[in-house]
Amino acid sequence: MRTRVSLRKLAEMKAHREPIVMVTAYDYATARVAERAEVDMVLVGDSGAQVVLGHDSTVEVTVDELLVLARAVRRGVRTAFVVCDVPFGSTEVSDEQAVATALRFVKEAGADAVKIEGGGPARLSRIRAIVAAGIPVVGHVGLTPQTAVALGGLRAQGRTVDTAARFAREAVAVQEAGASVLVIEAVPADVVEAVLPALRIPVIGIGAGPADGQVLVLHDLLGITEGKPATFVKRYASIGADMVAGVAAYAHDVRIGAFPGPEHVYPAPAEAVTAAREAIGAAGAD
Ligand code: KIV
Repeated sequence: MRTRVSLRKLAEMKAHREPIVMVTAYDYATARVAERAEVDMVLVGDSGAQVVLGHDSTVEVTVDELLVLARAVRRGVRTAFVVCDVPFGSTEVSDEQAVATALRFVKEAGADAVKIEGGGPARLSRIRAIVAAGIPVVGHVGLTPQTAVALGGLRAQGRTVDTAARFAREAVAVQEAGASVLVIEAVPADVVEAVLPALRIPVIGIGAGPADGQVLVLHDLLGITEGKPATFVKRYASIGADMVAGVAAYAHDVRIGAFPGPEHVYPAPAEAVTAAREAIGAAGAD
């Protein structure tokens, strides 16, 4: 039986060059899928704002909304290391606000760690404060969707001299601030490779080339998300098309009277049917 994945185990995996597998989940069913597939880390991503709540960006989701998703995920995960995103607006005001938010994810949803985007001075202060409160932090640099507007849109980072240098500085600074794991999103693989030797903590890439591990949004890799996927997404299934086909077949059967069939109904003794008839008759006589 698989034992629970801990920070120590993740560090060992990095040391032994054993790739770390991380995937997002947003409810009990997707958490069970991730757990049964034996992934190492499950991320309750604020990407849930888009993939399960239908928002245009991750910015809109609130702490209370994400907590509902996180609790459901926690119920479905037994061994994987569960990380919860802290939503935009829930850590920006002060270190105290950031610690209070992180505590909610640990106490109310059973998170093993929280993920916080960015590597600027204020972000580093938040990471230090959360770590000082005893809560493990997963950093996230490169493309940080919560502040994509400030970055010029949802686009790869580190493709110019300035942004590559900034990415490198932030990656190392997040590590030095106390993060236990670092997610790098949408940065050229060569730029990431240049920085990896300075990173002692496990590095999980998404659109960042080879790293200690990889993360993808579950709905992207299963082909549930509509539209053209991002460059860094590899689709391993077409579940969305299968789901539509399944529901369409059900709708067709209902419309032509083919469902429910005799095998989908409960049998009853004749006396029960008679009793039901007589009860209607009695009610009608009242
Ligand atoms: O919210 C999310 O799904 C993420 C991953 C893209 C890393 O942050």
